[in-house]
Amino acid sequence: MSADEECVSNNPSIPFAVITGASRGIGAEYARALSGQGYDVLLIGRDKERLETLRQELLRTDQREVWVESLDLSQPQAAEALYNLSGTYRSEVSLLINNAGFGMYGEFADMPMANIRYMLQLHMNTVVESTRLFLPAMLARKQGAIITVASVAGFFPIPYMSEYAATKAFLIAFSEGLAQETKGQGVTIQVCCPGFTDTDFHQTAGHQPKQVFFAQSARKVVQTSLQALPSKRTLVTIGWQGRLSLWISKIIPHKIMMAIAGKAVKPPSNTNLR
Ligand SMILES: NC(=O)c1ccc[n+]([C@@H]2O[C@H](COP(=O)([O-])OP(=O)(O)OC[C@H]3O[C@@H](n4cnc5c(N)ncnc54)[C@H](OP(=O)(O)O)[C@@H]3O)[C@@H](O)[C@H]2O)c1
Repeated sequence: MSADEECVSNNPSIPFAVITGASRGIGAEYARALSGQGYDVLLIGRDKERLETLRQELLRTDQREVWVESLDLSQPQAAEALYNLSGTYRSEVSLLINNAGFGMYGEFADMPMANIRYMLQLHMNTVVESTRLFLPAMLARKQGAIITVASVAGFFPIPYMSEYAATKAFLIAFSEGLAQETKGQGVTIQVCCPGFTDTDFHQTAGHQPKQVFFAQSARKVVQTSLQALPSKRTLVTIGWQGRLSLWISKIIPHKIMMAIAGKAVKPPSNTNLR
C-alpha cells in the first residue's frame, strides 16, 4: 500500500508523533507509550525487521496507525528526508522525538574517522536541521513539542568518550536556548537526560560500564520524560540518580569530575577501535 493510500487517518484531532531511533531501546519505549496514549506514530530506524516487529506488536495492542520507515539519519540531508517522509503520512506533527544515537568509547586518536563523522551528523546536524524543519508549523499552530534525548554525559566533559559527551552537551545547550527563545509560544522544548539505561546501547558501543548498579529501565526514562511534558520543563533528568548527577555537575569542579569519570570509562590498553 502506498503512503497516500495508507493515509486514512489524516485527522488533526489524532495526535501524531515522529520518533527517531525507534527500532529498540528508549525509542521503542516512546513508541509503545505514545501509541498506548492514542498517538499515531511514525517510527524511524535503520533496522527494518525490528521496526516491523514493533509495528506488529503495537497494532496488536493499540488501535492507532503505526508507520515505519528505514532511514540512516547519519547521512547528510537525512533531516529533509525525515521531514518529507513524515509529510506523506500526516501534515501536522504533534511531537517530534530526536532520540537516535550511539556511543563510542576509547582513545579519540584511535577512533575511525567515519564513525566520528556519523556521530556528529546524527547527534547534532540531523537534530538541529530536523528541529528547524518541524518547529515552524508547531509555532504557527501554537501547539506541539520536541523532545531531544541527550544524556547525563552532557553535564560535564568525559575523557574516552569526549566526542559523545560533547555532542550531548551541545544538545542540552541547543534545547535550553531554543526553549527560552520560544517560551510562551505554545511549543514545548524538552531535553531528556537519561543516566545509565539498560538497552543495547552499551553493547553496540562495545563497552560495558564498570558500575551498573543504578541502571534505569527505558520504560522509566520514557515515563518520566512524557510525564514532564505538561509542566513544560526543559531539562528532564530521570529519578534521584539524574537529579544527583546534575547537582554534582554543578557543585564539583569539572576537573575532579573528569578525573573520576575518566578512570571509570578508560578502556583496557589493548583495545583497538579500528
Ligand atoms: N542507554 C543509555 O545508557 C543511554 C544513556 C543516556 C542517553 N542515551 C541516549 O538515548 C538514545 C537512545 O539510545 P538507547 O539507549 O535506546 O540505545 P539503543 O538501544 O542502541 O537504540 C539506539 C537507536 O538509535 C537508532 N540509530 C542509531 N544510529 C542510527 C542512524 N544512523 N540512523 C537512524 N537510527 C539510528 C537505532 O536504530 P537502528 O539500529 O535500527 O538504526 C536504535 O533504534 C541515544 O541518543 C543515546 O545517546 C542512552
